[in-house]
Amino acid sequence: MNNKAVQLQHYILNEQKKFPYAKGDFTLLLSDIIIGSKIISREVNKAGLVEILGLTGNENIQGEQVQKLDDYSNDTLINILSQNQSVGGVASEEMADPIYFEDHTEARYCVLFDPLDGSSNIDVNVSIGTIFSIYKLKKDGEITEMDFLRKGREQLASGYILYGSSTMLVFTTGEGVHGFTLDPSLGEFILSHENITIPENSKKIYSVNQANYRFWDENTKKMIDYFTKEAEKPFSSRYIGSLVADFHRNLLYGGIFMYPLDYKLKEKPRGKLRLMYEANPLAMIIEQAGGSATNGKENILDIKPNMIHQREPLYIGNKEYIDIAMKYLNGS
Ligand code: AHG
Ligand code: MN
Ligand code: MN
Repeated sequence: MNNKAVQLQHYILNEQKKFPYAKGDFTLLLSDIIIGSKIISREVNKAGLVEILGLTGNENIQGEQVQKLDDYSNDTLINILSQNQSVGGVASEEMADPIYFEDHTEARYCVLFDPLDGSSNIDVNVSIGTIFSIYKLKKDGEITEMDFLRKGREQLASGYILYGSSTMLVFTTGEGVHGFTLDPSLGEFILSHENITIPENSKKIYSVNQANYRFWDENTKKMIDYFTKEAEKPFSSRYIGSLVADFHRNLLYGGIFMYPLDYKLKEKPRGKLRLMYEANPLAMIIEQAGGSATNGKENILDIKPNMIHQREPLYIGNKEYIDIAMKYLNGS
């Protein structure tokens, strides 16, 4: 157990040294995202008390009902990042198009985020989270949509904040995965999980929404049958319905999270999860933690996106389980 209470800013500054080109602006950018998460955490933790629960009555670009906290979280992150001169623009699950900060002529980064993941769970007090992804602009001081349509491999950093029994930040800058727990009495994130790696001899967890079984193709069904019926050592099934919470548990305990291609929408089979601000940031983390992530065909981080809200099937967790999944999915 880490017995020195390393505060987040100190840790980032130390990490900072590994970034030859960042002039302290990267540290400030991460700190701004953290401030946003503290504000969101405060609202999430009292959501039951103030009139912030429930639906706003409008739909987002994904055609999903928008919860008030989704809006609040989105606005919070935009307000903070729009004041950071090093950020050229942001893209969010909750907005059809990116917002470009044209006047940030010194900008060097762009940020993509799912401001509140698992929002269908807000009203029932199940863990939810914020997921973020940071890219360096292709050209300092200039930003176009192409800055957002990047392979996940190009991420500079990614992470999530989990609003659960405690508020935890987990992020990577490509130098391992580190977890910080918010001490609400200090308002500071303190290092609690240094160098997280996904355990190999895992608790054998698989996470999938089993109710979609009828909408999967034959190979997917065979793959799920392996995890549910055929594995010599039985798995246990854990599925919360908040990607960030399911992912975090599997990261610490080991296992595989799956959101397969489903044929619910006959005319257009699709994955549900979004590549740019769900799959990519978590894929960077899982690779840094010794695991892997695929859409069933290729590594998530190698997918060249053509739309910001692009959806992909997602299989993410221990390499051993990903390999098994790939074997079935590709009919071998
Ligand atoms: P979001 O709340 O950001 O729209 O994400 C919800 C996602 C993800 O958090 C979760 O894994 C998945 O939806 C659950 O989907 P199903 O309810 O279809 O299983
Ligand atoms: Mn989400
Ligand atoms: Mn969301």
